[in-house]
Amino acid sequence: MRGLVRETTLSAANLIYPMFVQEGEKDAPIASLPGCMRWSVAGLVSECHRLYDELGIPCVDLFGVVSETLKTPDGVEAHNPQGIVQRAIRALKAEIPGLLVMTDVALDPYSTYGQDGIVHELPGGGVEVLNDETVEALVLQALSHAEAGADIISPSDMMDGRVAALRAALDERGYSQVSIMSYTSKYASALYGPFRGALGSAPKAGDKKGYQMDPANAREAMREALLDEQEGADILMVKPATFYLDVIAAMREGTHLPIAAYHVSGEYLMLKAAAASGWLDEKEATLEALMSIRRAGADMILTYAAPQAAEWLSQRASSH
Ligand code: PBG
Repeated sequence: MRGLVRETTLSAANLIYPMFVQEGEKDAPIASLPGCMRWSVAGLVSECHRLYDELGIPCVDLFGVVSETLKTPDGVEAHNPQGIVQRAIRALKAEIPGLLVMTDVALDPYSTYGQDGIVHELPGGGVEVLNDETVEALVLQALSHAEAGADIISPSDMMDGRVAALRAALDERGYSQVSIMSYTSKYASALYGPFRGALGSAPKAGDKKGYQMDPANAREAMREALLDEQEGADILMVKPATFYLDVIAAMREGTHLPIAAYHVSGEYLMLKAAAASGWLDEKEATLEALMSIRRAGADMILTYAAPQAAEWLSQRASSH
């Protein structure tokens, strides 16, 4: 009876797994993100076989881990055709053509400043990210991902006008089939800390409040959504997820585009830490968190819990 009247479903088909890829032959666990790894290209491909063939996860989102020596003030390594992300995309599309490969587009892993864009140093010692110069750099990065075979480009930088610029550049170069998942409302959140540890990408000075949204604002998220829709986004994203379920629900009401939610590193770690201390049942609490994001209106969820959730969900299905 509960099954017959259930309003919301959660399955592996709704999940996107964010993954970190690094130079070299080693796969290394990430101290700040238990359960996640920095993968070599070969390790990434074999793990993706398991995710796609065995667990039914349709899509992964790639982040490059870049050594300090490759970081520059303008982050040019971001569009190196032989860069780590570009090579990982090619390997994945060659080995597992059905797997959707999404890539993060922003300069922070490549920038000596740890900022998402091109930085201007202010006389007082602070920094300012330059919107239009950054959009030009993001276009080069996105084109290099599309050229390598990426299916979905996911700009996480929060510059104004970048969706329109990316769409125009992709179309002009013959990549009209490449989709854009826009980080539409990305809040300046305290929950990104463990991710920045995983990538070594924390801002060296200042913060990201000049371009990420104020957690106090919900109407602004709808304004951003309408702009992204006009600019040609294919999917809108809300990030973080569980602290912003009202924003997901409002966006679900206010647009007909597919909606994604990013269950970020801090949300994942809160569950992991509570489970490790014996305070919560990890499986039940994690699946409830993910279901709440679906119930609020998200079609798809980016989560570090994707592989485990997919396993739990298949056990649940077979025990019915
Ligand atoms: C940066 C980026 C961040 C995340 C995804 N892309 C962090 C930030 O804005 O500093 C956060 C992901 C997470 O916390 O899981 N472009």
